[in-house]
Amino acid sequence: MRPNTDSRLFATLYGRLAISLMVVFVAIGAIMIVTSQRMFETQRLFELVANLVVGTVVFSLIAALVVFRFLTLRLRRLACAIEAFRASGFAHPIRVDTQNGNDDEIGRIIGAFQEMSERIATQLAQLEQVDRQRRELLANVSHDLRTPLASMQGYLEMVLIRDEGLSQDDRYRYLQIAVKHCERLARLVRDLFDLTKLEANEVRLQVEAFPISELAQDVVQKFALSAHKRDLRLSASVCADCPPIRADIGMMERVLENLIENAMRYTPAGGEINVGVRRTGDRVELQVSDTGRGIHHDDIGNVFDRYYRADRGESSDAGNAGLGLAITRRIIELHGGRIRVESTPGLGTTFTVDLAMA
Ligand SMILES: Nc1ncnc2c1ncn2[C@@H]1O[C@H](COP(=O)(O)OP(=O)(O)OP(=O)(O)O)[C@@H](O)[C@H]1O
Ligand SMILES: [Mg+2]
Repeated sequence: MRPNTDSRLFATLYGRLAISLMVVFVAIGAIMIVTSQRMFETQRLFELVANLVVGTVVFSLIAALVVFRFLTLRLRRLACAIEAFRASGFAHPIRVDTQNGNDDEIGRIIGAFQEMSERIATQLAQLEQVDRQRRELLANVSHDLRTPLASMQGYLEMVLIRDEGLSQDDRYRYLQIAVKHCERLARLVRDLFDLTKLEANEVRLQVEAFPISELAQDVVQKFALSAHKRDLRLSASVCADCPPIRADIGMMERVLENLIENAMRYTPAGGEINVGVRRTGDRVELQVSDTGRGIHHDDIGNVFDRYYRADRGESSDAGNAGLGLAITRRIIELHGGRIRVESTPGLGTTFTVDLAMA
């Protein structure tokens, strides 16, 4: 339905100005008629004309000032709000009371300014956050690269300097430690590289239909020996009629490896780890649960963040960079799935991946 012309006219600045002026002139007209009648009666013609001219000019000036002040009131408020926005370092968006949703030209300008200021404030906050994260990332990466590099250099130099003075066993041991640090460095660089590519959407998925339950059992098998060495009970419980999923096998293997590695790392000897696959409606659910130390509820919201480690202090030298879950989540997102975590400190943690059936 088209809005009524009168109300539309009143909703514009031009319409308001015209109506205000009309009211002023009608008032002047009425006063003129009343005074002229009285003066005609008393035959004071010259005085009548002079009074009318002066009266009209003064009245029009006052009326114009009042109308102008009324119409520019919101513009002045907007100017003050913009000033305050600038003074706040573009952090607090503009808030102007637009008097019951007034939507004339000034109302729309104020609305647009409010929206613009909100955008500027959010984007500025985002930029600052990204910049902070980038600086943190650089600091963390350089720290994590420096530690294994320094150890590697130390052990290799020792082998070189002490050369003949080293027994065959010691030489072998030092070289082995150097190789371990080298592997850790290679893993860190690989994870960083992979995560950067995953986040930049530069990874091409090799999607195919395959039974995730078989893959889960294979990966569990792969970790069986190291779990046994650490006195952990690692088992798989997959449903017999688990439907296949459409995914990149290599990536899904990486997801399982990251989750099982974490479970093994954060579960003390004697604990249990279970990898389960089951069907829930038209989805397939993959679960990795452990009876480990769990994640504190203050940390649980951040574990999927890149470079986040709940235990930064105690394990910063243990070779884990805090990239595993960030990579895992990105892979799952690229497959259109979801990952969530539930944990009770001291009792254990369960990661659940929800994927679409093929
Ligand atoms: N199963 C788990 N039990 C307890 N804490 C966990 C578990 N899985 C993850 N976490 C916590 O979440 C943090 C982030 O995990 P993530 O896999 O991203 O990094 P990481 O294992 O420390 O390092 P990386 O995987 O890069 O070697 C871990 O540092 C740990 O504090
Ligand atoms: Mg990990």
